[in-house]
Amino acid sequence: MLRKIEAIIREDKLNDVKEGLKAIGIMGMNVCDVRGHGRQGGIVLSGRSGTYQVDLLPKIQLNIVLSEQNVDETVQAIVKSARSGVAGEAGDGLIFILPVEEVVRIRTGERGHEAVMYPGDIDERKGRGKTKS
Ligand SMILES: Nc1ncnc2c1ncn2[C@@H]1O[C@H](COP(=O)(O)OP(=O)(O)OP(=O)(O)O)[C@@H](O)[C@H]1O
Ligand SMILES: [Mg+2]
Repeated sequence: MLRKIEAIIREDKLNDVKEGLKAIGIMGMNVCDVRGHGRQGGIVLSGRSGTYQVDLLPKIQLNIVLSEQNVDETVQAIVKSARSGVAGEAGDGLIFILPVEEVVRIRTGERGHEAVMYPGDIDERKGRGKTKS
């Protein structure tokens, strides 16, 4: 079974998170800029003309499609590298985990698990590069 991790993280944590993922052998990913808010509904800033509410804050969304067997380790790596300090802070983000129907690598026509395997990735390191999806 394939899954997609959508991690909404702080912009300034992107490098740490990328390093954390590289360290466990997660290779394929994409990133986009998003704006949003969670339960605090944004933040209040004070300027010359008083205070004002910024309700949509910039964040980074990191997208990773991977095998279900690698989800837990990957989520742990993201939490560890994206959390502010030891206790974490409001606005540190959220991780969504979704089912993925199918993946096709355009160059080869490979599908499923095979389409998201890379030389030296998390599965190869664990000696299970040929496991079925
Ligand atoms: N329910 C949601 N659906 C989609 N995106 C969300 C949702 N909640 C938050 N986000 C996105 O995640 C970002 C970070 O959210 P945030 O970390 O503030 O979550 P929270 O639930 O308020 O937790 P905390 O109390 O730790 O702040 C938001 O800026 C927004 O982009
Ligand atoms: Mg919040």
